[in-house]
Amino acid sequence: MASQAGELVAKFRAQFPENRNAVRVIRAPGRINLIGDHTDYNGGLVLPMAIDLACWIATAANDRNSLRIHTEDLHRDFEMPLAILSHSEPKNGWSDYVIGVAVELANARVPLRGQDLFISSTIPMGSGLSSSAAIEVGTALALLGDRKLGGVELAKLCQRAENNYRGTPCGIMDQFVVVHGRKGGAIQIDCRSLEFESATLPANVLVAGVNSMVKHELASSEYGVRRGQCEDAARRLGLASLREATPDMLVNLEGDQLKRVRHVLSENGRVRAFLQAAIANDPQEMGRQLVGSHTSLRDDYEVSCLELDFLAATALEIAGVYGARMSGGGFGGCTVNLLDRQAFPEFRQRIASAYRSRYGVEPIVFACEAAAGAGPVSAT
Ligand code: GLA
Repeated sequence: MASQAGELVAKFRAQFPENRNAVRVIRAPGRINLIGDHTDYNGGLVLPMAIDLACWIATAANDRNSLRIHTEDLHRDFEMPLAILSHSEPKNGWSDYVIGVAVELANARVPLRGQDLFISSTIPMGSGLSSSAAIEVGTALALLGDRKLGGVELAKLCQRAENNYRGTPCGIMDQFVVVHGRKGGAIQIDCRSLEFESATLPANVLVAGVNSMVKHELASSEYGVRRGQCEDAARRLGLASLREATPDMLVNLEGDQLKRVRHVLSENGRVRAFLQAAIANDPQEMGRQLVGSHTSLRDDYEVSCLELDFLAATALEIAGVYGARMSGGGFGGCTVNLLDRQAFPEFRQRIASAYRSRYGVEPIVFACEAAAGAGPVSAT
């Protein structure tokens, strides 16, 4: 990690040659969600894992009274004078994640100073691996400098940036796991109480992601629709959130509302069952819960797409695979697969070749190792 940080400092110096101030480097990981999707904004349970793909930010104070940003991946520059930050408008692009966080920090009365930021990310954008949450948390840590904010507060602030500035009504899961990820495994988050704990997976089990390369564009509009349907259903049932719903209440619902609530209820149950199976060292049962999750997201929550259905079904035909499902918001992005470690080379080759023959697209297949949450990295 030190060498990656050192490389980033060198790139920062080349990009902002007149800035001779001390450079800090922040790393903020992406995430893959093992199980528990579309439950977070319903006060439910989720089980995401921070992964070894990450957003890196090198930063130093400048004397321009502005935030000056360069993104290596998009080869873009952006500058925002601090004087106009509070009435700035979103640009509907990557800079919104950075500026949105700056606005929320200012709202939280954190005094900002001029800073240069060099951003470089290995998390593919729009692939459902939380590249945006990683930029948000990385930016918050970059702008906070030595000032400390509690982990839960930090995650909430970044979620607000996305909700208010970017205008995406996301839940708390992504920002929370980017902050609290653990090297040893996934984390189980109760999105009602925001209590969380580590969850270790059996040692011989590997988590693999398959990127369908379908950009989840529909996700932004449909996400809001699903969220609205859940809120309406909770109101109709007289509940603060669907976390309080019980199976007997389903008789009071019909149509889409019935399906959405049935998903939320059953998905919370599957997170619990998956964790129990992990503790019991029973990968077959863990896999069954993943398969149940995919079916429910496809049929009851209706957020899958043909490519994800194909990837999830094809994975199950490969030896050593325990289970597979779409992961994250849906309508594209990645599947998450649970398999025997030994089976990975064969899995990678077979799933890629099946997808290529069916859709003419090369998917990215990657093994995920659990990574720590965001923080500063020393460059020496
Ligand atoms: C997106 C959102 C999360 C969560 C997932 C679905 O990733 O950002 O808050 O709702 O979708 O589980």
